[in-house]
Amino acid sequence: MAQLMDGKQTAIALREQIKIQTSELIAKYHIIPHLVVLLIGDNAASMSYVRGKELACQKAGIKSTIIKKEDTTSQAEVLEIIHQLNQDSNVHGILLQLPIPKHLNSDFIINQISPSKDVDGFTWTNVAKLSNGFPHLVPCTPLGVMRLLQTYQVRILGKRAVVIGRSQIVGKPMAALLLKDHATVTICHSKTADLRAVCKEADILIAAIGVPNMIDSSYVKIGATVIDVGISKVDGVIKGDVDYDSVFPIAAYLTPVPGGVGPMTIACLLENTLTCYRDLVGV
Ligand code: GUN
Repeated sequence: MAQLMDGKQTAIALREQIKIQTSELIAKYHIIPHLVVLLIGDNAASMSYVRGKELACQKAGIKSTIIKKEDTTSQAEVLEIIHQLNQDSNVHGILLQLPIPKHLNSDFIINQISPSKDVDGFTWTNVAKLSNGFPHLVPCTPLGVMRLLQTYQVRILGKRAVVIGRSQIVGKPMAALLLKDHATVTICHSKTADLRAVCKEADILIAAIGVPNMIDSSYVKIGATVIDVGISKVDGVIKGDVDYDSVFPIAAYLTPVPGGVGPMTIACLLENTLTCYRDLVGV
């Protein structure tokens, strides 16, 4: 039977550390860490995520500002906002909540965020640092997964890791972080031949697919660590990519959904905000 990886408790502990560090930094440098979230349009899920981020900042003593714009906002207006935030020395972190409306070029806009304020680690500069083995500002969800693996002392060196999903937000940075820690990493995706057989080889299996309950025990090696990054709503209930009841008896470690990776993502956003702050304040 699997040991559960409690993301909720791990995130609480991490957030407590961040809160202490924040108050020490403010006491010493008299500058309050400040995260600005840019929310364009009224995607219900995005609004709920942004509220969660705002609340987490507040509890940690980090100032947060939400800039909410209509879904008809032009690319020029968005770029103007970002350029102003880049220049504002009272702003340490800038987060463009995704997805953004289709008429906007998200790759271009993201890359106008100053890499030193890029709390999501999405700019090419920060992506290049990570893929060359010098991670600095790293996307929050894969960073949260690494923090969970560290907390539960899951050995990574020399292990076979399989990441299902090749997104810029999760799959690719996840693979780069595991590789940096000396795992043998395979990235799978919708075109992978015999996905089940590849997954069955994994000591560490990371599911970031977005298909609820897809990964059952037939994909999992006995004694594997299984990390479920999926969040789907099925009949109003949040479901992960992993069929929990099927996998629980054979995995060594397993993250629940909810209460696994999700809370770690927010904690790591706070961590990244302090990383930006330290860089910009020069401490
Ligand atoms: N939308 C869903 N996940 C994320 C994330 O990690 N960062 C941003 N900016 N938007 C998201």
